[in-house]
Amino acid sequence: MTDKNSNAMWGGRFAAGPDAIMEAINASISYDKRMAAQDIAGSRAHAAMLAAQGIITDSDATAIREGLLTVLSEIETGSFQFSTALEDIHMNVEARLKEVIGAPAGRLHTGRSRNDQVATDFRLWVRDQVDAAIAGCEALQRALLQQAEAGADWVMPGFTHLQTAQPVTWGHHMMAYVEMLGRDVGRFRDARARMNESPLGAAALAGTGFPIDRHMTATALGFDRPSANSLDAVADRDFALEFLSAATICAMHLSRFAEELVIWSSAQFRFVALSDRFSTGSSIMPQKKNPDAAELIRAKIGRILGAMVALFTVMKGLPLAYSKDMQEDKEQTFDAADSLMLALAAMEGMVRDMTANTKALEAAAGAGFSTATDLADWLVRALNMPFRDAHHVTGSLVALAEAKGCDLPDLTLADMQSVHSAITDDVFGVLGVHNSVASRTSYGGTAPLRVREQIARWKDILG
Ligand code: ARG
Repeated sequence: MTDKNSNAMWGGRFAAGPDAIMEAINASISYDKRMAAQDIAGSRAHAAMLAAQGIITDSDATAIREGLLTVLSEIETGSFQFSTALEDIHMNVEARLKEVIGAPAGRLHTGRSRNDQVATDFRLWVRDQVDAAIAGCEALQRALLQQAEAGADWVMPGFTHLQTAQPVTWGHHMMAYVEMLGRDVGRFRDARARMNESPLGAAALAGTGFPIDRHMTATALGFDRPSANSLDAVADRDFALEFLSAATICAMHLSRFAEELVIWSSAQFRFVALSDRFSTGSSIMPQKKNPDAAELIRAKIGRILGAMVALFTVMKGLPLAYSKDMQEDKEQTFDAADSLMLALAAMEGMVRDMTANTKALEAAAGAGFSTATDLADWLVRALNMPFRDAHHVTGSLVALAEAKGCDLPDLTLADMQSVHSAITDDVFGVLGVHNSVASRTSYGGTAPLRVREQIARWKDILG
C-alpha cells in the first residue's frame, strides 16, 4: 500500500491516495498521451468560448490559451514529464498548465468534464486517422493505376478456385483492387461525415448550466455541428467502431492482394518480381528472396479485426452514459490505425516497385485450357449450337487435348472434327489468349479497351 497525497483534482472528497495497483489499472497516460495535440486544441477552443460567453475573463482565457501552447511545445520537444499519478492526458496537461500559468488554469474546466473532453479528443484523433487512411488508399490506388496503365493488355490467367479459368489482362486485375480501395475510401468518407459532431460541452452527461456556446467550439474544432444529445455525446464510440470496421474491410482487401503477391512471387509462378527494397533474404538459404512485406500485410488484419472485436465487446451492454470501461477504447484503436497505415504504405511501395514477368504471365494465361469458354462460345455463334451442347462438345475436346498432352490450339482440325464434324478452321481464331481477352468487351469486362476506360475514369476521380 502506498498512500500518496490525496489527488489534486478531486482531493476534496478523498483523504488518501490510491493503491499502486489501483493507479496502474486506472492510468491511461502511457498511451492516451498520443492525444495531446487534440486535447490541447479542444481546451484552447473551450477557453476561447468561455471568454466569448463572459464565463471567464479575457485575460484568464488568454493566459490559458498561451499556457496551453507552452505545454504543447514541451510535449512536442519531449521535455514534458508525464505522470502516472495524474492518470491521463487531460489531467497531465491541466496540472502542467497550473504550474505554467498559476491560478487561471483552475478556470479551464468550467462547464465541461473529462467525459466530453475525452470523447472530443478521441473523435478528433480518429478523424485524423480517417483522413490518413483515405490518403493511404488513394496513394495505393495511384500505384495500381500506374501498373494497370503499363499492362492494360498484358495477358495473364484469371483464376477461380485458384484453378486457371479464363485469360484476363494484368490491367484488369490491378483495377479490381482499385475498385475495392474505392469502396474503402467511400466507407471512410461516410464514417467521417457521421463522426463529425462535437461532444464538447455535453459535460459529464447532462449538459451544463453555464451559458456555453457549443456551436462555437464545434466550429473551432472543424466539426459540422455539436452532437444533439449530451448523454449520447459522452456515451458514443460509434465513430471508433466505424473506423475500425472500415479499417478491417480495407485490411481484408490488402490481405487478399498480399496473398496473391506471395503466390505470384514464388518460384512456381514467377508472375512478379518484388523489388529488393520490399523483400528480405534468408539467413541460411542464399537463393531466397522472401516476400516478408506481403506476408506481414496479409497478417495485419489479425490485429485490426481484433481491435474491432475488442471494442465492440467493451461497448456492448454498457449503460448510459460514460463508464470507465470506455477507457479501453483507445489502445487497440491506436494499434489498428498504425497497422493499417503501415500496411497501406508498404503495399503502395511494393506495387510501385514490382515488375511483372510478362512472358510467364502470357505462358500461364494459355495453359490449363483457359480458352475453352471461347471455344464453346464459338460453337454457339458459328454453329448456332445451344450453349449447354457447346459446353459438352468443348469438354470432349479438352479431354482429347489432355489425352494427347497438348493445349487446345495445338489440336488439328481433324482432331476437332472427330468430336464434332461441323467445326471449321475458323475456330483457331478464337483459341489465342489475346483474342480471348480482346473479345470480352462487355461492360466491366477484361478487354484492354474496357480496361483503359476504367483507368481513364479512375484517373479522373483521383485527379
Ligand atoms: N481517461 C479517461 C478515458 O479515457 C478519461 C475520462 C475519465 N472520466 C471519468 N469520469 N473518470 O476514458
